[in-house]
Amino acid sequence: MEAVRRLVAGELVAIPTETVYGLAARIDRPESVAAVFAAKGRPSFNPLIVHAPNLRAALALTVRPSPLARRLAELFWPGPLTLVLEKTDAVPALVTAGQPTVALRVPSHPLARKILERVRVPLAAPSANRSTHLSPTTAEHVLRSLGEHTKVLDGGTATHGLESTVVRVAGQSVEVLRLGSLSVDTLRAVAPVTVVTSTDGHPSPGMSLRHYAPRVPLALVASAEGHGGPGVALVTLKPHGAAASYARAEVLSPSGDLVAAAARLFDVLHSLESDPAVDRIVAVPVPEEGLGLAINDRLRRGARTAP
Ligand code: TXA
Ligand code: MG
Repeated sequence: MEAVRRLVAGELVAIPTETVYGLAARIDRPESVAAVFAAKGRPSFNPLIVHAPNLRAALALTVRPSPLARRLAELFWPGPLTLVLEKTDAVPALVTAGQPTVALRVPSHPLARKILERVRVPLAAPSANRSTHLSPTTAEHVLRSLGEHTKVLDGGTATHGLESTVVRVAGQSVEVLRLGSLSVDTLRAVAPVTVVTSTDGHPSPGMSLRHYAPRVPLALVASAEGHGGPGVALVTLKPHGAAASYARAEVLSPSGDLVAAAARLFDVLHSLESDPAVDRIVAVPVPEEGLGLAINDRLRRGARTAP
């Protein structure tokens, strides 16, 4: 596989995962990891997620995972869960931005797994987009965000369409550092969960920033009524009566299914930001339940104007 050959040689390749596309590089080549930060325009204080082919390879990069951390790994890997754990020396400080912890994930996408198995070195892979912009759910999104020269392995549209849920274990409970494709309800079935929402001194460095922002301004409104007009696009969960007053109206899921809505969210925002007829996006928050928490989190961060 060409992607495997390139990754082994230390090059960057954008690879598909079940959440979003990741810009991958082997963790043991400082110049490759540095190139990931550079390609994304990502501040060097924001650590990268490390991907491993299986549970054993992932846990080998950590020091004494607690029984609860191990249980979460066994239950949800491969899949859209990222565990922040104490790292071993096998994980270079450049990857973790100097933190003593590493964010680890075993993806379930068949191509991602095949690549990880064949490269045989864990891969650092942040979402394959320019820093603070929308995450890519298709190969085309990657090329649009990082440039036409980017090497992308096309694995089709990401099935979850929203990043992994990032957690750390605190005693007997789970702290969610980033809401994502694995719902809080699913985690609650395993252990008590707290969602760390504060953005000041946030334990997940990337979460203190404006993020997931389309290239045109995005505003969150309580109701779709009264915000329409030329150049304004509307995003709602279900079809809305006010749609006719907007230049464009996008529905995340006609039936109101939040899993389907999460999968479509970034694609809808990508499509709107590249439509010359759209110069402003107005979105109505979805119900604050299930994956709705993660969808609203992305909308809120995308709508933030300050850093
Ligand atoms: O679904 C995903 O997680 C995708 C795919 C490609 O796996 N990756 C992804 O990576 O979203 P990235 O780099 O865009 O987001 C990583 C998040 C950031 O918010 C970062 O701050 C946090 O994880 N993170 C990474 N290492 C951490 C650590 N040691 N402690 C706390 N948070 C960490
Ligand atoms: Mg990202």
